[in-house]
Amino acid sequence: MIHNKESESEPRIYGYGRTASATLAHFICIVFTISIALISRPGSSLFSWHPFFMTLAFSFFMTEAILIFSPHGSLIKRFPHKTKGRVHLILQCFGVSCAVLGLSAISYNKFLNDKPHFTSWHGLLGLLTLCVLGLQSLAAVPLIYHSLAKGWSLAKLKRYHAASGLVTYLLSSVSLLLGLCSAWFTASVGEYTWYIAAVGPALSALVIMNQVTSAYMAKKRLQS
Ligand code: HEM
Repeated sequence: MIHNKESESEPRIYGYGRTASATLAHFICIVFTISIALISRPGSSLFSWHPFFMTLAFSFFMTEAILIFSPHGSLIKRFPHKTKGRVHLILQCFGVSCAVLGLSAISYNKFLNDKPHFTSWHGLLGLLTLCVLGLQSLAAVPLIYHSLAKGWSLAKLKRYHAASGLVTYLLSSVSLLLGLCSAWFTASVGEYTWYIAAVGPALSALVIMNQVTSAYMAKKRLQS
């Protein structure tokens, strides 16, 4: 009870700060995705589909899928939690589909050009990110068919899903950043543009980390 009062009396400036950071995350994920699309010009080569689909998957769909639950920045803030869960699922399905297309494009391109696979830090961490994403997606099935996870409460499943989802998101942010370090991207943009581009995934990761950990702490406070 006391804790509820505490959160009610939270200075307004915090609320404004959270709304501003969620708005910034929406802005970044749109501008970053459009910028990578303009730079890679999807369709101009087989390779061009890789950065395009990966950015669409992780920077756009996955960021928006998590921001759906933001108490301050959700685009469907006033809708019931169940609706947010459904929209989250749809956006994640789009994200996973784009990630599969992005991986297919780069793998097939390397195969055609007889280049070795998974030789860079970006390629290796990217592969790990996609494997973790696959596991994360599988582990989310019991959230829909609860009978699959006997002995686990729905609340516990949701907590684990959020924590592992955050790890997946952070891994994808590092993979994106390493993609920006690739010879192709550094040759495609000037030095200043590179720094501006790199700030995008880093800031989004901070906002998402803050959103997920704050939701946890709020729940812990209510439970204690
Ligand atoms: C989270 C998003 C991303 C993931 C999971 C990812 C994953 C991967 C993987 C697994 C490979 C190696 C494929 C193989 O060896 O067969 C690769 C290669 C590559 N990626 Fe990405 N990628 C992502 C985003 C990006 C972005 C945004 C760019 C460019 C700005 C990029 C540029 C490249 C380049 C140039 C290669 C070929 C060179 C290399 O193997 O390092 N990637 N990516």
